[in-house]
Amino acid sequence: MKIGIIGSGNIGGNLGKHWAKAGHEVLFTSRHPEQLNQLVQEAGGKAKAVSLDKAWEENADVYLLAVPFKAIDKLSELYAGEYGNKVIIDATNPYPERDGEMAQEVRDSNRNASEYTAMKFGTAKTAKAFNTIYADHLKDKAFRDTDKLAIPFAAQDEDSKKMTQELIEDIGFEAVYLGGLENTHIMDPDQKIYGVSTNRQDLEEMIKK
Ligand SMILES: NC(=O)c1ccc[n+]([C@@H]2O[C@H](COP(=O)([O-])OP(=O)(O)OC[C@H]3O[C@@H](n4cnc5c(N)ncnc54)[C@H](OP(=O)(O)O)[C@@H]3O)[C@@H](O)[C@H]2O)c1
Repeated sequence: MKIGIIGSGNIGGNLGKHWAKAGHEVLFTSRHPEQLNQLVQEAGGKAKAVSLDKAWEENADVYLLAVPFKAIDKLSELYAGEYGNKVIIDATNPYPERDGEMAQEVRDSNRNASEYTAMKFGTAKTAKAFNTIYADHLKDKAFRDTDKLAIPFAAQDEDSKKMTQELIEDIGFEAVYLGGLENTHIMDPDQKIYGVSTNRQDLEEMIKK
């Protein structure tokens, strides 16, 4: 797959490296793509660094959103229209201390964070994944043959479900499907499975309770 990484920090940088290792074509983005040389080198394979504009123009199969939550407003304002019929995997989390008032509003609303992203990127097919795992675990615990960590995910339709599941499994995690975005409250900060690092069986037990 061709994957656009929107925000190449702890989460986007490491996921992009894993996906490149798994053989995918990875476009790392930054507001300063010239600063991503080292990341691109580490990723090897078919990875490159591009500007945000270019990433959407390159028509990737799927985009990972791994920016501070507050950036969603601006990014969707700029890019939701023309290139907005794509699959977006949302790994973001609203933190008022970092993201300000809009994050607090989302936390206080009766909408899950993923539903906020889906609303902002109106015509895209949004999935939620990789927001509950610690960056260190994402980095160090991928590609296991046994004792795999489970990654919970949710998706708006069959396409986004299939792609997200494949991208979780390709890098050695177990994909645990929660259903549609309306079920992602338990993935949000401080909720039941946020920050939980465990295997499929334990995660499924926790979700059932
Ligand atoms: N760290 C974790 O353990 C963890 C775990 C799960 C989920 N998350 C969530 O994942 C998201 C990313 O977290 P992270 O730890 O990877 O953050 P990070 O290391 O700070 O990386 C975020 C990247 O987003 C880019 N960015 C920042 N502001 C932007 C803006 N206004 N517009 C466009 N791009 C912008 C920055 O790239 P440039 O400056 O190069 O443009 C930066 O490299 C957050 O929502 C976070 O809550 C984090």
